[in-house]
Amino acid sequence: MTIKVKAIIGSTSSTSFNLKIVEHMRSRYAGKLDITPVFINDLEMFSIDTESNPSANVVDFKNNVKDSDAVLFAVPEYNFSIPGALKNAIDWLSRGGDYTLQNKPGFIVGSSMGAFGSIRAQIHLREILSNPALAPVLLPGNEVYVGSVHEKMNEDGELTDKATIDFLDSVVYNFIEFYKKTTVAANV
Ligand SMILES: Cc1cc2nc3c(=O)[nH]c(=O)nc-3n(C[C@H](O)[C@H](O)[C@H](O)COP(=O)(O)O)c2cc1C
Repeated sequence: MTIKVKAIIGSTSSTSFNLKIVEHMRSRYAGKLDITPVFINDLEMFSIDTESNPSANVVDFKNNVKDSDAVLFAVPEYNFSIPGALKNAIDWLSRGGDYTLQNKPGFIVGSSMGAFGSIRAQIHLREILSNPALAPVLLPGNEVYVGSVHEKMNEDGELTDKATIDFLDSVVYNFIEFYKKTTVAANV
């Protein structure tokens, strides 16, 4: 069984550390998780005025996220919260009546150059996602805060820190077990 995971990249940076972590996961867990990054760079700012006639970028983004078994959020921290671009993307996912994330299994990873590895952003993200119009089924515990991320990669942007790699292994194992239980329960 390979779980089709869409990884929402919460950064718009072309050199994003969070994207590099997702790239690490994509290659390391291939065969178990089929991870595809989903980018939020081209989404226009959400507006009630335009939401009934969204751009093709928004429609494609929502369909891309929908077409998955599970969702992964890769979260930087901006000013003690999630980046505005990620909040905008999530606002789009909450609207349109199709409830893209509802009941979808998910998990969160995050990193920052600061010591605390996006902990404040992730606390906010969990709060935001608890809105019933979003409501993915998130893996409890298993909180991944990669602090000082720039010191945990080599010059090629590959994750090299063994403790982080081992911890991600355990989180992914736990997510797969959680996914199996969640989807079996949903089909009873
Ligand atoms: C506008 C802005 C605000 C930031 N605020 C925080 C912060 O509150 N906490 C933190 O740990 N890092 C903060 N940073 C540093 C980011 O953690 C760092 O830029 C990180 O590399 C962003 O993730 P990315 O590489 O995936 O884009 C901030 C960076 C920017 C550009």
